[in-house]
Amino acid sequence: MNELVKVPKLVEVAEKRAMEEDFHMSSARDTGQLLRALAASKPGGLLLEIGTGVGVGAGWLLDGMDPTARLITLEVHPEAAEISTEMLAGDSRVEVVHADAIEWLRAYDGPLFDMIFVDASVPKYEERALTLSRIAPGGLFVCDDVIWSASWDPAVRPSKDRVDKFRLEIFDEPDFHVLLMDWGPGVCVATRIAADVDS
Ligand SMILES: C[S@@+](CC[C@H](N)C(=O)[O-])C[C@H]1O[C@@H](n2cnc3c(N)ncnc32)[C@H](O)[C@@H]1O
Repeated sequence: MNELVKVPKLVEVAEKRAMEEDFHMSSARDTGQLLRALAASKPGGLLLEIGTGVGVGAGWLLDGMDPTARLITLEVHPEAAEISTEMLAGDSRVEVVHADAIEWLRAYDGPLFDMIFVDASVPKYEERALTLSRIAPGGLFVCDDVIWSASWDPAVRPSKDRVDKFRLEIFDEPDFHVLLMDWGPGVCVATRIAADVDS
């Protein structure tokens, strides 16, 4: 990472906690910088993170968000939810919800999200349509780990086929402009097209 990049204090604290907890799934700093830059493009926005881990990604998002933006972050694992709640307690813009994202998204009837960072397998692969359906016009779908790596934890990693298929399938989403970036872990950003434009 470029040494000129300022790493938020909260991210440093959460990264340290991740090491202490032997939690190796936090977002890399390259991804974090992108999350921060994209979050900053949504002043007053409503953001969703799916899969909080111990709060590293949320720390980057919060650093980009303006004072009026809000972040909901979902975590299914009770211990991770407890740790991230503790990590993020000092910022009133964020709410950590201990829930399975699929059940939560199905029941959700609030305003659509201006940005969703999906960092868990089922909402990213099998239930992607559900996740995409909760994004507002002009809103962003963001995920990383779109270049399969043998170094990922075999206990939780998706198959190489699944990741490669994602790279093709995502371009079939008719309502989104899609960008795949093959740096770091591989990142996808897709924007919900706001309206038809007469040509
Ligand atoms: C890659 S880690 C998240 C890292 C975090 N987003 C970050 O940027 O540091 C994935 C997390 O998603 C959680 N998770 C997996 N499936 C989930 C689901 N269906 N609903 C909510 N959380 C889920 C896991 O427990 C794990 O903590």
